[in-house]
Amino acid sequence: MTPTDQSKAARAICLLAPVVPVLVIDDLAHAAPLARALVAGGLPALEVTLRTPCALDAIRAMADIEGGVVGAGTLLTPADVKAAKAAGAKFGVSPGATDRLIAACEDEGLALLPGGASASEIMVLLERGYSVQKFFPAEQAGGAAYLKSIGSPIPQVSFCPTGGISLKIAPDYLGLKNILCVGGSWVAPKDAMARGDWAAIETLAREAAALPRAAI
Ligand code: 3PG
Repeated sequence: MTPTDQSKAARAICLLAPVVPVLVIDDLAHAAPLARALVAGGLPALEVTLRTPCALDAIRAMADIEGGVVGAGTLLTPADVKAAKAAGAKFGVSPGATDRLIAACEDEGLALLPGGASASEIMVLLERGYSVQKFFPAEQAGGAAYLKSIGSPIPQVSFCPTGGISLKIAPDYLGLKNILCVGGSWVAPKDAMARGDWAAIETLAREAAALPRAAI
């Protein structure tokens, strides 16, 4: 997969909905009902973070949910990329980017949303052909004001910011032309998952899916 194809695929995934749920799944039994609730609420692109022992099995369990597009987050190594692809992930997300990670995604044909934060990181990724990037940790790294400023000299790059974003502040990001979508865990709160309150999660997804975007 060439960087151009990577960016095309990443853009298409980011355009599916204004919010990509960032999911930390501790209990494999939660995976399928959680995915169904989020998709029913209007959020088809789902990022399962590779931070829990059952994350890869969760991706496997979610890969068949109708209407869902399941990806793997927290990709740090080529081994993560291989495992995510084998589990059925349709895209990958990384907090940053390394040569080895990018090469592994290109070799495996896994659409990648690489992380860029400083102007130089963003420019290096752009030079490689990656015009759609994750921006992490969004709030701590400068928030919407930072991305607005970056958009002046580097308007060719679009972002999916994640980290510290809530329903309340998501509009600050989504009101910018260089933001395709935001990522966040607020649509899948741990307590609602523990209670199996999938209706509550569907409601949160519905609210998130209704957020307007300036980029489209
Ligand atoms: C993450 O990788 O943890 C994401 O950026 C989600 O951050 P959040 O939990 O602050 O939404």
